[in-house]
Amino acid sequence: MKVNLDGQVALVTGAGGAIGRAIAKALASNGARVACTDIDADAAREAAADCPGSAALRMDVTDEAEVGHAVDETLRRFGRLDILVNNAGVNTTAHRVTIDQFPTAEWERILRVDLTGIFLVARAGAKAMLARKSGRIINIASVLGIVPARLQSPYIAAKAGVVNLTKAMAIELGSQGILVNCIAPGSILTEATRRLFYDEGGKMHDRVQAHLAHIPLGRPGSCDEIASAALFLAAPESSYVNGAILPVDGGWLAGYIREF
Ligand SMILES: NC(=O)c1ccc[n+]([C@@H]2O[C@H](COP(=O)([O-])OP(=O)(O)OC[C@H]3O[C@@H](n4cnc5c(N)ncnc54)[C@H](O)[C@@H]3O)[C@@H](O)[C@H]2O)c1
Repeated sequence: MKVNLDGQVALVTGAGGAIGRAIAKALASNGARVACTDIDADAAREAAADCPGSAALRMDVTDEAEVGHAVDETLRRFGRLDILVNNAGVNTTAHRVTIDQFPTAEWERILRVDLTGIFLVARAGAKAMLARKSGRIINIASVLGIVPARLQSPYIAAKAGVVNLTKAMAIELGSQGILVNCIAPGSILTEATRRLFYDEGGKMHDRVQAHLAHIPLGRPGSCDEIASAALFLAAPESSYVNGAILPVDGGWLAGYIREF
């Protein structure tokens, strides 16, 4: 997919991760200069190495001071902010338990990154965009923010929050020239999910096969497929899209694939 982002400046959170890196690369290869930010400074630098004319910045989305500094630094280096991708996110692996067993600290950690982090970065980014009355904010939620699954209640609550926060921001900022939209990825194959999907011999686990049988396309998505959706929402071509929740999920949310 090719769009024209020449002269535009983007900031991507969690750019050192699998999906963030693909999004940063897609934005950069379509002309944007990208501030690749991540709590992991080395990962941010590796992402920036793939993005010509970009910057690598350490930014913890839960730290108000670091968020402010990273947005200011982006403005200082590049002079403007046109596209903000709120991608950083965490889930629980150690605590796949029902709500009655869920530890408070883990609940608070996930809510803090996945929901409060989006608020803090969006607030700082929106202020910069309001000065020019123009911008795009793209929040990365999850299909699980729309249709929950078991044993990951804080992630699901946070992602549902991201879905409605997107709409709240869209109705507040749309009249100011700032379009706010959300992508809800389904199952995406990354290095981390590959380890969950396949055994050491490369055979897919039975439970993953059962899971994929609920997806009409019958396969996980790729990071590039999420990046293409982000590119569309960043591009001049999507100038009338505001407050949309775009599932990129192979049809997961379309309905039940099985017969009743
Ligand atoms: N991979 C999937 O199947 C999938 C599905 C649905 C939604 N998502 C969402 O997509 C986004 C990216 O997921 P991914 O699979 O690329 O994950 P990932 O773990 O590969 O990348 C996440 C990145 O966020 C960074 N990060 C974590 N905490 C941070 C913090 N406090 N401040 C700044 N950066 C922080 C990490 O260092 C990492 O680089 C997340 O919001 C995730 O919830 C992923």
